[in-house]
Amino acid sequence: MTVLELLQATTAYFKKHNVENPRLNAEHLLAHVLGRKRIELYLEFERQLNEPELAPLRSLVKRRGEGEPLQHLIGTVEFCGHIFVCDKRAMIPRPETEELVQLLVSNFKKCQRRPDQSSHRRMVDVGTGSGVIALSLAAELPEVDMVAVDISEDALGLARENAQRLLMADRVRFLRSNLLENVEGSFDVIVANLPYISTQERQTLSREVLHDPEVALLAGGCGNELVRELIAQTSSRLRPGGMLALEIGIGQSDTLVAALAEKNYRDIWMEKDYSGVTRFLFARYG
Ligand SMILES: C[S@@+](CC[C@H](N)C(=O)[O-])C[C@H]1O[C@@H](n2cnc3c(N)ncnc32)[C@H](O)[C@@H]1O
Repeated sequence: MTVLELLQATTAYFKKHNVENPRLNAEHLLAHVLGRKRIELYLEFERQLNEPELAPLRSLVKRRGEGEPLQHLIGTVEFCGHIFVCDKRAMIPRPETEELVQLLVSNFKKCQRRPDQSSHRRMVDVGTGSGVIALSLAAELPEVDMVAVDISEDALGLARENAQRLLMADRVRFLRSNLLENVEGSFDVIVANLPYISTQERQTLSREVLHDPEVALLAGGCGNELVRELIAQTSSRLRPGGMLALEIGIGQSDTLVAALAEKNYRDIWMEKDYSGVTRFLFARYG
């Protein structure tokens, strides 16, 4: 079988098994097994594959057809230009969250330090999961003291592993905490991509999303409970002029903007993600 024939056969198998973007999935898996970049497959379409090359692909294709996420099969995911290990210990990072990091970095860089501010600016990432937000921010903003918390010990294990692989273990302090309960001090930025799916919405989730840990997805009857709880805690934990940056679920912005206003946040603004959904909320305090 040639590379092209194998891609065509795998694509057809994925189509039959309702895998979204079947050709792209086939290319990613084959490139992974052959140790090539996806684009390099195009230069080898006519090459015959041998049995040792094909064998590992079979089980991966079967598992993908059964709904296992591509990222778990490959074991890594690219986020903000860095490669992160990705497995069932934490949620698979989503592309929207890269936008949150980019928006936050540009806002943070625009905002000049006031003369009365101490030299160490502090940020905390609440619900860090695999550590993608905290580690990407730490890479972009080397002068910032970064703390990252999660309620899940499994997620923290993965986040610490990622920090080590990226040679940033000394750049981010990871600790277990229910929201900000175990975190001391105040911050210039509090960022969070907390679970925002309601328990009723669970049945609408794709089989791939259901591979994410429940603690990373579900937040209660409305879906905005954890974010609201965080908003209630953060006003006393932000330094004057400090910023809260949130990723939120579809249709949650009005309620959460009202919750921010009620807590006397100012400069509240929303941003859409690339698909046009209002996905991010920013606000300042003090
Ligand atoms: C939607 S995932 C986001 C993970 C990561 N920040 C990302 O963007 O890929 C939410 C994370 O919040 C964590 N979490 C859930 N409830 C929490 C709580 N009460 N306190 C702290 N973290 C929590 C979950 O374990 C999970 O890792």
